[in-house]
Amino acid sequence: MPRPVIINCDPGQDDAVMLLLACASPELDVLGVTTVAGNVPLDLTQRNARLMLELAGRSDVPVYAGCDRPLERAPITAEAVHGMTGIDGYPIHEPALPLAEGHAADFIIETCRDAADGAITLVPTGPLTNIATALTQEPAIASKIEQIVLMGGAFGRGGNVSPVAEFNILADPEAAKIVFGCGRPTVAFGLDVTQQVLTTPARLERIRAISTPVAEAVAGMLTYYDNSNIERYGGPGRPLHDPCPIAWLIQPDLFTGRQVNVDVETGSELTDGMTVVDLWGVTGRPKHTLWMREADADGLYALLTERLALL
Ligand code: RIB
Ligand code: CA
Repeated sequence: MPRPVIINCDPGQDDAVMLLLACASPELDVLGVTTVAGNVPLDLTQRNARLMLELAGRSDVPVYAGCDRPLERAPITAEAVHGMTGIDGYPIHEPALPLAEGHAADFIIETCRDAADGAITLVPTGPLTNIATALTQEPAIASKIEQIVLMGGAFGRGGNVSPVAEFNILADPEAAKIVFGCGRPTVAFGLDVTQQVLTTPARLERIRAISTPVAEAVAGMLTYYDNSNIERYGGPGRPLHDPCPIAWLIQPDLFTGRQVNVDVETGSELTDGMTVVDLWGVTGRPKHTLWMREADADGLYALLTERLALL
């Protein structure tokens, strides 16, 4: 039985590849895609998500626009990484796929409200503003959520926006604190593990060799996205963060982690947005989160390449 998921994202080239992987995978029933301000402003992230679903031939999946700013903070963006369009390297045009009516948070609430307990998996790969808004407006939906399988956070290998904080969390630390604190089983793919899955030239060429419009689109986006920092990442290529949660849902043995408590700093100028991972259980706080630490990068790219060839 395909697993019902709601994807929440801020495309971004890595979100875009994540969407294509999800659309190509029969293990998942993508109920809808919600978009949020993140890498680029909301009007671009929602457009980019529609472009990818159209490219994947999945106009059956509704795309919703959500929060255009964090709960409390001023927005931060990442055009330096993703380009002004958010998916530079892809031939931007206006998608025929329309934006679904209604706010993303309302879609999450209504979908969960109508579902059985533990029936819905949330897959956020951008700032957590939409998820936190839904949980705050309708706390009763928490019991409907089977798992929250997210890309975000950093602990053992430092942050990417501050010395300790990762973009998705630092973009909206208050939202992240709500989500990590909601009590639902969470699987977190932070930089500790996503920096192990690099878009190396060999991996990129295997994708390009598929020679389909989807493969050409991915190769174009990842060529732009590539910004090797061998000292930081230990090899050529850039971390392909956002496909990790989807790959895990399809093939869990690609990753290993540890069940821990994770809380988020929101009251320190120095460490705001830090995901404080209690690796040794010293706090006694509930261990709601499976914090991923190791990835089979070759296995992930083999899965990604195999599935992209299906589109
Ligand atoms: O820090 C990496 C994360 O921030 C990825 O999800 C990327 O798309 C950006 O949203
Ligand atoms: Ca993202």
